[in-house]
Amino acid sequence: MKLTTQEQEMLDGKYGKAVRKAMEILTTLGEIFNADRMVDVSSVQIAGVSYDNLGEAGLEFLNDMAEDGKVRVLTTLNPVGMDRENWQFFGIDQDFAKNQNCVINAFAKMGVIPTCSCTPYLIGNTPHFGQHLAWAESSAVCYANSVIGARTNREGGPSALASAITGKTANYGYHLDENRYGKVIFKINTIIKGTDQFGLLGKKIGDILVKEGKKIPYITGIDSATIEDLKSFCASIATYGGTALFHMEGITPEYNKYPKPKIKIFEIKQIDLDKVRSELIDDDIDVDFISIGCPHASIHEIEQIASMLKGKRVKKEFWITTARSTKKVADEAGYSKIIEDAGAKFASDMCCVVAPIRGRFKGMMADSAKACYYGRVKNNFKIKIGSIEECIIEATK
Ligand code: F3S
Repeated sequence: MKLTTQEQEMLDGKYGKAVRKAMEILTTLGEIFNADRMVDVSSVQIAGVSYDNLGEAGLEFLNDMAEDGKVRVLTTLNPVGMDRENWQFFGIDQDFAKNQNCVINAFAKMGVIPTCSCTPYLIGNTPHFGQHLAWAESSAVCYANSVIGARTNREGGPSALASAITGKTANYGYHLDENRYGKVIFKINTIIKGTDQFGLLGKKIGDILVKEGKKIPYITGIDSATIEDLKSFCASIATYGGTALFHMEGITPEYNKYPKPKIKIFEIKQIDLDKVRSELIDDDIDVDFISIGCPHASIHEIEQIASMLKGKRVKKEFWITTARSTKKVADEAGYSKIIEDAGAKFASDMCCVVAPIRGRFKGMMADSAKACYYGRVKNNFKIKIGSIEECIIEATK
């Protein structure tokens, strides 16, 4: 791989220990994936930052990097394992909170903004078409590549941090035109509406792609999709299919940049989605927990929830996971008061997957196919998918 003079100096240690370590990580990845050079990144999103995932070894690595490491580009953080202001309220134990704060402090020392959200594109880390990024968090990666038309690989925590500290990433994978072509067509022959249905579609396509060898899907037949629909779809197709990029005819910006694939067409009908829905509803579920906000809820979703909950009372534990900055907008708009008066809770900075809540509930209902996957696999909950409206009916009955 060809390095510029400055990149070589970074590797040689002229810019300090953390920069050298970061450049070692990036050049190693570049060699493995046959990159020709480095490219400058305009922003970074770091994931895998719950103390639940990192443990003591991860924290040690971060403290080491924070000794002399400073980020060179806009860098934001994924959800952590707790609400930073109200962790006791959510039953998080003191030792976990102490360790989680050490993780956040190490990132903050390096200049990472502790946004603690998986929707950086909704809260200021908003790239534009064609920019190179180094983002971790599979749902956000898929959104950045597909919906925005920016370019990022699915980074891991250490490689994303390495890019933040150097402002560089190796030029391979989704940074290259040749790897962004759609390879398999999905023709949707039914109307898809709402976050739950887009999640079901993501699972259906994702499941097929796993068998097809994880090719980039080119999707036709969708008339319209909101930002919330697309964020749900991205989270689902990334979870079930490992997909980091798709094209959607008439919706995503690169759908007509590359020629439409001529090979294999899969048709998806209502009956297919009904089957997926039944796979995401456990027979003997007794719902005691409702979770909305995977990926983190937008202000528009919060506004919808407030209007549906107005004057009602939830009878089950009800969490809305969102970015703290979005919650502040909801406070200003008066939505938070309506929601909290109804007995629902905002869980900022965290989500029901990265927080240590295994065993805390028996049956979880969510509008997100991704939340259902991890609720079942990681937290051992029985699960049920439904629209936001159905979640609210379940919570208030
Ligand atoms: Fe975000 Fe957690 Fe879902 S990180 S995408 S809310 S699993």
